Amino acid sequence: MRRAIVEAAVWAGATAPNPPVGAVALDKTGNVIAVAAHQRAGRAHAEAALLDICRAQNILGDIDTLCVTLEPCNHTGRTPPCSEAIIAAGIRRVVIGANDPNPHVAGGGAARLRQAGIEIVEGVENELCRRLIAPFAFYAATGRAFVVVKRAFDETGSMIPPVGQKVFASPESLVAAHRLRRKADAIVTGSGTVLADAPLFTVRHVADHAGKRRVLAILDRRGRVPQSYLQQARDSGLEPVIYTDIDFCLRNLAARGARDILVEAGACLCDAILASGQWVMRVDIHKGTPDRIHVAFNPNQNIGFDIRGVGLSELLF
Ligand SMILES: NC(=O)c1ccc[n+]([C@@H]2O[C@H](COP(=O)([O-])OP(=O)(O)OC[C@H]3O[C@@H](n4cnc5c(N)ncnc54)[C@H](OP(=O)(O)O)[C@@H]3O)[C@@H](O)[C@H]2O)c1
Repeated sequence: MRRAIVEAAVWAGATAPNPPVGAVALDKTGNVIAVAAHQRAGRAHAEAALLDICRAQNILGDIDTLCVTLEPCNHTGRTPPCSEAIIAAGIRRVVIGANDPNPHVAGGGAARLRQAGIEIVEGVENELCRRLIAPFAFYAATGRAFVVVKRAFDETGSMIPPVGQKVFASPESLVAAHRLRRKADAIVTGSGTVLADAPLFTVRHVADHAGKRRVLAILDRRGRVPQSYLQQARDSGLEPVIYTDIDFCLRNLAARGARDILVEAGACLCDAILASGQWVMRVDIHKGTPDRIHVAFNPNQNIGFDIRGVGLSELLF
């Protein structure tokens, strides 16, 4: 299951509105014979991709156990149900990490497989598997996206970088910040930040998902953001959209398919979003030697499981 989790985590941020999912095939002796992941909405689910790999290598008949981070689907969406593909492949046992968090389908896939005589083992590495799909599960439960507010502070507690600079975090903190960006489906910023820094908002300190196009939501009630900046954002692979209302912005981003939203704004907009209560996680980078990264969760949002005390690296995998 850990191997499947690692494979899924590679694609975290690429699969919205679907969750990242990993799957591993084992033979009778317990050897891993194939590994796969769901890579993008509309492409094969992890289990279907795994079966395709095995079919292509002529080892379909060697699969004894299929291990998957999320319960196989039992419905026809953009792809046929994985439960039926697993049954057709003659697999003896299926090991599941997390059950489907969607209240309409919970138990569907596992129940169908059981009914077909397949041995089911549930809840293996459950905590990690649920953490992997936190934005997807939060949306399934609330209809809202998982909003992360990231802020950087200098030694005096100011968020404003020194004149002539756009950032003041250490290289390590920058990597963490860009990993958060890589995982995000949309970035929210304010007109103040755009006018001060004209930030690129691209993923640079780590490799980005190929072809990923994030929405760049800009809160700009007074229409101060110039067209030239919007064009620069488009040229950098972002899809800039101007909003004037925080609540509408966050709901609209979720409706457009964003599950993981990263707020990267100045103190004015960050404070407004925190005060609105519509945030789930806060990541505060405090400059120092070394920088300290503090992660906090909104106590008023039910994320469905306990990730208090979990560090940033565990959340990012
Ligand atoms: N350290 C960090 O983590 C960090 C990150 C980003 C930026 N910064 C720095 O922050 C500074 C800019 O900060 P800032 O506070 O001036 O800008 P900001 O927070 O990025 O943007 C402020 C603008 O957002 C809009 N806004 C704020 N609250 C809103 C609400 N409740 N509803 C709708 N729109 C709202 C307003 O636009 P309108 O005026 O059009 O109404 C407001 O002027 C820059 O120096 C930048 O370098 C630091």
